[in-house]
Amino acid sequence: MRAAENLTLADVEQYLHAHQHKSLLRFITCGSVDDGKSSLIGRLLYESKMLFEDQLAALEADSRKVGTRGGELDFALLVDGLAAEREQGITIDVAYRFFATDRRKFIVADTPGHEQYTRNMVTGASTADLAVILIDARKGVLTQTRRHSFLVSLLGIRHVVLAVNKMDLVGFDRTVFERIVAEYRAFAGPLGFAEITPVPLSAVYGDNVVSRSPATPWYRGPALLEHLEQVEVAGDPQAQPFRLPVQWVNRPNLDFRGFSGLIAAGRVRPGDRVRVLPGGTESRVARIVTYGGDLDEAVAGQSVTLTLTDEIDISRGDVLCAPDDPAWSGTRLEAALVWMAEKPMVPGRSYLLKGGTRTALATLAPEARIDVNTLERTPAEALALNEIGLCLVTLDQAVALDAYDRNRETGGFILIDRVSNETVAAGMVRQVLAPATNIQWQALDVDKRARAGLKGQRPCVLWFTGLSGAGKSTIANLVEKKLFALRRHTMLLDGDNVRHGLNRDLGFDDASRVENIRRVAEVSKLMVEAGLITLVSFISPFRAERALARSLMGPGEFLEVFVDTDLAVAEARDVKGLYRRARAGEIRDFTGIDSPYEPPEAPDIHLRTAEMTVEEAADRIIAELKRRGLLETDLLIDGAAI
Ligand code: ADX
Repeated sequence: MRAAENLTLADVEQYLHAHQHKSLLRFITCGSVDDGKSSLIGRLLYESKMLFEDQLAALEADSRKVGTRGGELDFALLVDGLAAEREQGITIDVAYRFFATDRRKFIVADTPGHEQYTRNMVTGASTADLAVILIDARKGVLTQTRRHSFLVSLLGIRHVVLAVNKMDLVGFDRTVFERIVAEYRAFAGPLGFAEITPVPLSAVYGDNVVSRSPATPWYRGPALLEHLEQVEVAGDPQAQPFRLPVQWVNRPNLDFRGFSGLIAAGRVRPGDRVRVLPGGTESRVARIVTYGGDLDEAVAGQSVTLTLTDEIDISRGDVLCAPDDPAWSGTRLEAALVWMAEKPMVPGRSYLLKGGTRTALATLAPEARIDVNTLERTPAEALALNEIGLCLVTLDQAVALDAYDRNRETGGFILIDRVSNETVAAGMVRQVLAPATNIQWQALDVDKRARAGLKGQRPCVLWFTGLSGAGKSTIANLVEKKLFALRRHTMLLDGDNVRHGLNRDLGFDDASRVENIRRVAEVSKLMVEAGLITLVSFISPFRAERALARSLMGPGEFLEVFVDTDLAVAEARDVKGLYRRARAGEIRDFTGIDSPYEPPEAPDIHLRTAEMTVEEAADRIIAELKRRGLLETDLLIDGAAI
């Protein structure tokens, strides 16, 4: 064995070449240091006489680029998202180690075992085909054993090795081993593993790690490494129905239009029919183009470019499927989610869903929390860090997806916070729900431009945000008066007022505020459609929902006005006496007191109210509207244009 530090690039390339033709097993080890996990991994690495680890990890990306190992070190479900995460400097700590024997090569994901590291385990398990679940023979099946097993099954691993370690400390007692195995099997029954292989071990002394131990003559099964070398994992991805998530549309010139991506499942040949989802159109494969020339057939794991016999509209994120067994397509799905962020889920908030090459906006409605220790389901309003639950996910556009237990790549996704860009959850599709096909978009002849034109103005939204008592409504009121004097058509939506009617069912918890702003953002969009200059005066404390409001409007139509007043000043004014009541504990979730306010990072208009009068603030806004050309009047269009 050579020390890892002395390896050169040439060594690693030689290694990659030498092992190119061996099959690869990815597995995860679950357990804590106390269970002897480190000694077990250490021993496996040692016995396999190959220590590359860090060097290889660093080279993982390069080897993928040069393609030495084809798709083997490729991204599966979560890795895409995690690559993005690394760019953002957030690390989820999973140590990947590489080793090989004469028969097989291995990548082992080693993650910490404690509950606070659930997200790490999810990351490690998402690409593994087998899990080694460690048990201390003296302790038997523990809560954490159950938790690990549940996570492993949730993440689609079907092969489990139950490594009953520290057998030396129980005198290699067969009855101890068999009792643990029986208990585990009883618990794991509902988890749907294809295979559970129990092995009695002593990682420290090496019993049954690499070769069978004389200390357990009653044990007839394989040693751990023997099993890892032989086990057949996962069904053959090539035997599954064809899936090609389109990564990009390759259009070097007008004569060529190809659809490029990594085949996620199945095989394809020229002449095969394919269905494009979510659109649903069908065509036939004309050519399979690769750098090395056209192919007669391509299979799962290969990156290819397909050309089709018909000119159809396909874009990134679409999935080319076998027409007789296509993916699901829809906007509503049920998924299992593992919440991975410190901040809990906010139901109703729109998160970015990213799965393979697809992105969409997703809102979440939790259905149940699953107790990872008992598998019990309880009603849930939200999920917090490391919690797992079932959620209804509603998307802003149809995407093509499979059930996760059918295809981990086309059935898995991550959710990203749109403001912080943080990965907040990993998701596994359980089913896509039937679309509401009875609702279609109705095209209208009189549109926003026409309505605004008739009013001779440009519609926009002035979105006032700031603490309660900051002066939002006072300033908005004056701005509307000034606009009125300029003969502009306006509408003012004020938080207190809207909460008396449309939103009277909502309170001040986070989810209510999210829904409050979602509704008012939709209403202001309608107001803009009506051609009005719309003033919105809501605390709107969360960046995410203000970003959502912005995203609903056209370019240049949304102006965020930050009414920036110190909490102390707003509280001293206390026009409505609410701060006093909040301090006295009579009102809960009061913004600035026990509910957060997230100030705008780059408001279009920043009003520091300590430094200006209400009149000056209103004039600033009018001036800014003028500067942006939003008060121009030359837009009258004649009726004939409609
Ligand atoms: S938002 O946070 O959901 O945007 P919104 O602007 O609709 O709030 O309503 C805020 C108004 O409700 C405040 O100006 C205040 O008069 C009143 N109010 C009552 N309770 C609260 C509370 N807990 N937090 C903030 N405002 C409250």
